[in-house]
Amino acid sequence: MKIIVANTEKEFGELAFAEIKKVLDKNPACTLGLATGSTPIPLYDEMAKDHQQNGTSYKQVHSFNLDEYVGLPKEHPESYISFMTRNLFSRIDIDMRNVNIPNGLASDIPTECARYSDLLAHAQVDIQVLGIGGNGHIAFNEPNTPFDSTTHQVFLTQKTISDNARFFNGIDEVPKSALTMGIGEIFKAKKLLMLASGKNKADAVYRMIRGEITPSCPASILQNHPDVVVILDKDAAALLV
Ligand code: PGA
Repeated sequence: MKIIVANTEKEFGELAFAEIKKVLDKNPACTLGLATGSTPIPLYDEMAKDHQQNGTSYKQVHSFNLDEYVGLPKEHPESYISFMTRNLFSRIDIDMRNVNIPNGLASDIPTECARYSDLLAHAQVDIQVLGIGGNGHIAFNEPNTPFDSTTHQVFLTQKTISDNARFFNGIDEVPKSALTMGIGEIFKAKKLLMLASGKNKADAVYRMIRGEITPSCPASILQNHPDVVVILDKDAAALLV
């Protein structure tokens, strides 16, 4: 596990982008695993800026997002498809036909989970962007999710609901359920790019890197992956010194 601590938010975005760019340079038709949340926004800003200034193309790129809320209309600003379109897809030249996000509006949720798992089983994600929850979750795999899980529906913990309330007009508007890529599927990516910023992540980051490998901290499984880059800001790294 390679751990890098960024000095500024700009550097955080630049360091994360450098990891994506290495993969893109090697294979312009690579498959990116993408994440939502506030943490990857500096990365997406760098991708957009680089696309604009240097013309890096995503025309041949395929992407898989980690998760989506259940029941939120696609055009709701906090649906993850809206988030991704606003923060990244509309700012680069990716072909929207190559973008994959679980459909949280599917009438048959188990069939939708099976569809997404099947797509992932036939893909090879070259680099998967990840964030970490204050409780150690990765994507919406909450504590005690089996490490070999595939795409499934989750009922969000109270902690995740209250963490995400800042994006909505109050806690009651936060969806209670989501579809998430499973930990087993995340782990299959060739490279994992874990991003964490803010002091509310310091404890989870410590447990991910130094703690016991246990489903009670889903991110601790990263210790077993052969190629992980962790990019932290100083606050998220505070307990590692
Ligand atoms: P955040 O979410 O980037 O909004 O902090 C990360 C996560 O909960 O996985």
